[in-house]
Amino acid sequence: MTQAHEHWSSKIGFILATAGSAVGLGALWRFPYIAGTNGGGAFVILYLLFTFLLGFPVFIAELIIGRKTQKSAVMAYSTLSGGSENWRGLGWLNFLTSLIILSFYGVVAGWVLSYVFMSLGNFSVGKTPAEIEAVFTTLYKAPWINVFWFGLFLLINLAIVSSGIKKGIERWSKILMPLLFLFLMALFIYSTTLSGFGDAVAFVFVPDFSALRPESVLNALGMAFFTLSVGYGIIVTYGSYMKKSENIPKNGFYVAIMTVLVSLISALVIFPIVFTYNLPPQAGPGLVFKTLPVLFAKIPATLLLSTSFFLLMLFATLTSTISLLEILVANVMEVFNIERKKAGIYLTILAFVIGIPSAFSGAGTLFPNWEAIYGKNFFDMMDYITLSWFTPIAALLTIIFVGWTQEKKMLFKEFTSGTHLGFLATPWYWIVKYIAPLVVLFIILHESGLISL
Ligand code: PHE
Repeated sequence: MTQAHEHWSSKIGFILATAGSAVGLGALWRFPYIAGTNGGGAFVILYLLFTFLLGFPVFIAELIIGRKTQKSAVMAYSTLSGGSENWRGLGWLNFLTSLIILSFYGVVAGWVLSYVFMSLGNFSVGKTPAEIEAVFTTLYKAPWINVFWFGLFLLINLAIVSSGIKKGIERWSKILMPLLFLFLMALFIYSTTLSGFGDAVAFVFVPDFSALRPESVLNALGMAFFTLSVGYGIIVTYGSYMKKSENIPKNGFYVAIMTVLVSLISALVIFPIVFTYNLPPQAGPGLVFKTLPVLFAKIPATLLLSTSFFLLMLFATLTSTISLLEILVANVMEVFNIERKKAGIYLTILAFVIGIPSAFSGAGTLFPNWEAIYGKNFFDMMDYITLSWFTPIAALLTIIFVGWTQEKKMLFKEFTSGTHLGFLATPWYWIVKYIAPLVVLFIILHESGLISL
């Protein structure tokens, strides 16, 4: 029996759920440290340009595919290509990428969950900075504890996705996203009171182009796609829950604006702390788990601040992993005609099993020779394969699919229905057809070492 295709119950439901997918560890954790290691302001300008000029148009393209077909990636590409096996393959590439990302992103999510509980127990109070940093290292090297938090996080994720679009994803996005904004604003207000706030504003907004390295350009572009969740078929699936009457460019724009704002505000939360306490802004990925707790411990309201911060990260992470599991579930439901709850359970178990070696990466006891042979531990390898290869390749294929295999008339009709922003259809089409494929192809060639900057 074919199951009825669900829809968002409201415009705000779509916007919050999609912004929830977009706003995640990318905006809160990766953006500040990548901006920090790429010179600040100049990088931020590039990121904004890429988000609006490239990421956003491709985001719209994915929404159009989803809303037009009312199907998830695999069946959507198959339907629009008249049943082509090759284009169906693009849907499966999206599926595989999302599955692998869920398996290691979930391990990081487990750390966040663990930090929420540790913060409630005031774990940093009375410890030296070295001892606080050592907490992360100990956690990272404890495989079964990693597996435990990872598994628990996946169960929470499953509970939400199993309840469906309206009762699960939309309802929880409507609860978690406003909470996230609230916590973010509270922390932002706190940050403005710190002596380093002025330096942080200058660092984030005053461009110093001499600090830009050639790779910064690529990093900014990758960042723009990753934070918008573009190139995973996720936006296709979320677009399929849109009603025909919805305004694609306008709603899409709200999502892009929210994502960018959260990225910028989170940088303005983290850098004032960094500058006030004289830390190097290039502290790297350890910034959140190692450095920030050291700072929280110096501040009187440690429990409140530390718990709020990690809860904020937890909400953001959860609304992103929901979207990763949803694209898996939606595709399996459509292709194999399996019921939502069953599909959710099977796929969560699969993601859990694939994630175990990532959870063991810090300890290095499972596959002990992995790093010696492949040069990266299992976790880093999964991250590298999916983010540096699968994502740009899938994004390129998606752009080619829309720009070169679909009729202009159909695309324009979808773009313009229900909107008065129809005049943007032509520039959008030009970007998707000519500019975006060239830029993404350039990134792939650069990554493969065939061309260098
Ligand atoms: N956009 C999410 C973030 O910034 C990451 C993500 C990527 C989520 C791909 C889903 C799919 O954290």
